[in-house]
Amino acid sequence: MFDRAKYEKHLRSRLLGRALTAVDEVDSTNRAVSAAAGAGAVEGTVIVAERQSGGRGRFGRSWASPKGGLWFSLLLRPDLNLVTLPAISILSGVVLIRTVGARHALPLHLGWPNDVVYDGRKLAGILVEGKVGESVAVVVGIGVNVNNDPDDLPAEFAGKATSLGKITGEKYDLEILLAEIINEYDIGYAELNEVGLEEIYTEWKAGLEMIGRAVTLSVDGKKHSGIVKDFTIDGGMILVCESGDELKVPLDRGTLISPKYIKTL
Ligand code: BTN
Repeated sequence: MFDRAKYEKHLRSRLLGRALTAVDEVDSTNRAVSAAAGAGAVEGTVIVAERQSGGRGRFGRSWASPKGGLWFSLLLRPDLNLVTLPAISILSGVVLIRTVGARHALPLHLGWPNDVVYDGRKLAGILVEGKVGESVAVVVGIGVNVNNDPDDLPAEFAGKATSLGKITGEKYDLEILLAEIINEYDIGYAELNEVGLEEIYTEWKAGLEMIGRAVTLSVDGKKHSGIVKDFTIDGGMILVCESGDELKVPLDRGTLISPKYIKTL
């Protein structure tokens, strides 16, 4: 059971995470927040679930969400003339590195565009979904493997995932971790709105540790190999292909095939 008093005790945010619904089980917190947005939920609304029965990942993949992990979604209503969807995707990766990496002193990095990785294994994933209807709604879904055992995840995740508990041997309070992420997101979102993306983008690029590496990508189902030259401020990767041609791959169109994640330890 989610301990709301503990969460609120650690919450320092101005805007985000003040309206929170905690449920035992839902199909997907992204779907639930999207529905809440349609019903007029305020910016900053969070839905957190102990388990998801139909957790969603990027590119229509499923996301295993057993008890013990932190599975939540956050509603943003940005002015899309000033703040783009890729900017929110970049910010989300940086927020997790700042919170889970810096605060808990773990050498984490990002797998392009924003998987959170520890020594070649995925610790957390982010799914940003936007819709512009009567009002703008951007849903940021974050899944962190925390106290759940990554070895219990379905076979497709075997050897590819890790969890905070597995890394450090400790047990974490999900309420405190959620409050810490929301606090950091609140600061980062204000920075994005008031100052812009530049510093956050620089931090994101550093977190990727990928420039100069040889990679193979799948872009719209087609394979491309080459050397990573740079990343654009809208989250795209610039790849120098084996032919010498430069290919710009938008953040929402490419997925890394190899190396999937870099081993750093
Ligand atoms: C990915 O790496 O493919 C993104 C995974 C995002 C998972 C989170 S868990 C909470 C939220 N609800 C979902 O259905 N997905 C996101």
